[in-house]
Amino acid sequence: MSIPEDVDPLPARSMQPNPGGALRPDHVLGRDQLIADYWRTLQVQSLALLAPRRIGKTSIMVRMELLAPEGFVVVRRNLEGLESTSEFAQVLLEDIEQLLSTWKTKALRAREFLAKLGVVELHKIKLELRGVGWKRLLERLFDDLEEQLEQHDQTLVLMWDEVTLFIAQLINSGQAGDAMLLLDVLRAIRQSHPRVRMVLTGSIGFGELLRRLRREHGYRNRPLNDVAQRSVPLLQAGGAEALICALLRHADQALEPAFINELVQVSEGHPFVIQLLVDRVLQQLVPSRVDLRACLATLMTPPGDPLDLNHYLDRLERELDNQAAALARVVLDTVAASPDSLDRAGVCAALPGHPRDRVLATIRILEDDFYLRRNQHEQLEFMLQFVRRFWIAERGL
Ligand SMILES: Nc1ncnc2c1ncn2[C@@H]1O[C@H](COP(=O)(O)OP(=O)(O)O)[C@@H](O)[C@H]1O
Ligand SMILES: [Mg+2]
Repeated sequence: MSIPEDVDPLPARSMQPNPGGALRPDHVLGRDQLIADYWRTLQVQSLALLAPRRIGKTSIMVRMELLAPEGFVVVRRNLEGLESTSEFAQVLLEDIEQLLSTWKTKALRAREFLAKLGVVELHKIKLELRGVGWKRLLERLFDDLEEQLEQHDQTLVLMWDEVTLFIAQLINSGQAGDAMLLLDVLRAIRQSHPRVRMVLTGSIGFGELLRRLRREHGYRNRPLNDVAQRSVPLLQAGGAEALICALLRHADQALEPAFINELVQVSEGHPFVIQLLVDRVLQQLVPSRVDLRACLATLMTPPGDPLDLNHYLDRLERELDNQAAALARVVLDTVAASPDSLDRAGVCAALPGHPRDRVLATIRILEDDFYLRRNQHEQLEFMLQFVRRFWIAERGL
């Protein structure tokens, strides 16, 4: 894909803080190694990028699009807020038609299929496509696509942001059947269309969604076993430093190594936290590293919740039934409050009143959902230490 003229493929050396905003691709820092690795994977297979909110998944996709290798075209779309599979089919048709128009062609098979159903206006698909018509539309559309991709010798990467939210929305609104069918159809499309790849992102684990579909709806398939699944990491020290320096340069601040180091530590390499902290600290007359921890503490304390920490509390209620959510809270309390690190057996031992199987299953859910992770010694820890501190404060531990 050609690079837009106003965007430099090199990362910016100086930039204004933009915590939570949509970033320009040259303002996405510290991710190029990861992006190169993702593109290597996309040469052969599709990719799922999973991580908590605000870690930078969307930003990574924005920059990936800019750095697309020769022979790849990218179509990017946020699926958050879509309410049905027919709406999904509609936006996909719109996106694909736009791509095809750059090659001066149309999605003829898809159009013909719609015409037979009497649908002529694309924006009405959502209302008029009944039953599993959306599935047929997708199949026709991908056949149109494959033909054009072949002719132009391109591979298409469909970057779909927040797929897990969309699937969860389908399940929560009584459309679990469509959700399962969609997952199967997408897998079949990946299998039969060698020039199509997908990048799927999600802030809640696919694992938990699939468990729900299995438990509550008898789903048996493994719709992602052909996809490389990656957890998006925090920034490494070098990337975090590059981001901090670019933000400080913009404010004409000295690049004081002690300040930069402290900021790398306090932020844990979380790019959004870096953006927020620099933004706040620079509001002080003489920004100092001693202010950084206090500043983070302020960001974590009401009023307001810029770090979206309440999301970690609410999500358990929303995604789990009452009993499971209660156990999840107890497990998190145990890990958060324990003075020593605990492995899984240690957590079970600390909770003798709960069946071992259920405790282990809960730990798995919490790992899938980015609350906890296992370190190299198999000990459980909060994925983010500031989330642990929030949990301790919020739960009065
Ligand atoms: N690589 C990065 N470089 C600079 N800022 C970043 C980067 N990644 C994330 N951010 C900051 O974090 C915010 C949230 O990032 P975003 O990509 O929207 O996360 P996610 O999609 O995982 O929720 C952005 O608005 C920006 O302020
Ligand atoms: Mg996002």
